[in-house]
Amino acid sequence: MVAVNDIYLLRNIWYHAMPSHALKPGKMVAKTLLNEPVLFGRTSQGKAFAMRDICPHRAVPLSYGRFDGTEVECCYHGWRFNENGQCTEIPSLMADQQMDLSRFDVQDYAVKEVQGNLWIYMADRDQPQPPRFDVPRVPGFGDDVAPVISYTMRFPCYTDHAVVGLMDPAHSPFVHRSWWWRGATLNDEIKWFDPSTYGFTMRKHRMANMGYGYWLIGGVPDNEIIFYLPGVRTEETTTAKHRVVNLTTVTPLTDDQTDVTFELYWDLPWGNLLKPILPTLIRSFLGQDRDVVIKQQEGLKHESVLRLIKDSDTLARWYYQLKKEYQRCQVDAREFVTPVKTQLLKWRA
Ligand code: FES
Ligand SMILES: [Fe+2]
Repeated sequence: MVAVNDIYLLRNIWYHAMPSHALKPGKMVAKTLLNEPVLFGRTSQGKAFAMRDICPHRAVPLSYGRFDGTEVECCYHGWRFNENGQCTEIPSLMADQQMDLSRFDVQDYAVKEVQGNLWIYMADRDQPQPPRFDVPRVPGFGDDVAPVISYTMRFPCYTDHAVVGLMDPAHSPFVHRSWWWRGATLNDEIKWFDPSTYGFTMRKHRMANMGYGYWLIGGVPDNEIIFYLPGVRTEETTTAKHRVVNLTTVTPLTDDQTDVTFELYWDLPWGNLLKPILPTLIRSFLGQDRDVVIKQQEGLKHESVLRLIKDSDTLARWYYQLKKEYQRCQVDAREFVTPVKTQLLKWRA
């Protein structure tokens, strides 16, 4: 059983911040992540950066200020900060008033752009540690490839409920009832799972239970799903000819707001024909997941314990164990030891 009031957000780990295209050169975007106000910017040269969105002078969010493509200027007294958060100018100082401006630097965050996404390293404020692993990659595509589509939906819940919902294999026939997706009939599912870097992998297998749409990519596809902490999932569907990969990321904004981003990468030459209808399909699909989470929030006000059953909740159990171990190995300053064991899981869905 899992106590739902056990709220902690993993630190010293990379989180998906936003798709790269959401941050244009010379522009700023303010976003709360893990309860921290973060200011993202992109210089006119194209370099992305992130810093704490609070002016060290009188705490006005820097995002209310101006950005000239090089430096951010606070809207209150015009203090200026470069892309590394270093204070470069205090306009009220006279020429003979020397001051060590580095005392007023703003905390900056490491960011990384990979495959059309901007990731941010959320270090622990008291015990920052270097990254234990790199930003997860979408398999089979280079670092410069961007997703065909990126869609973000906000879930009004604590991050664990979004992550667990995302990997839950048993909800599909009940939650995702759409004419273009599977119906409500249940099938036996038997799949091998293996431990993988800070997560687990559903071993590559030939798909049998095909929804509409899979035939479009030519032949019966193979499928492999990989989960990474803190809440990243890639699902790779491949045939001899083509590859379609879904990247889904879960990012906590606050303790009860979570962004879920759904992206697709593919090498389908005719894929552009699908593009106009994709936002509608994704909105409908993710909306079903969000709607059930909204209903769950009603019950969670009254119930503080959740039950996890074998085998359909084993992935959820692993998620909680992985998270706990990631937390614990940092405190103990030791290697991460995966709690996941190679295992054959069976469920009906
Ligand atoms: S509050 Fe930012 S410069 Fe004064
Ligand atoms: Fe779902």
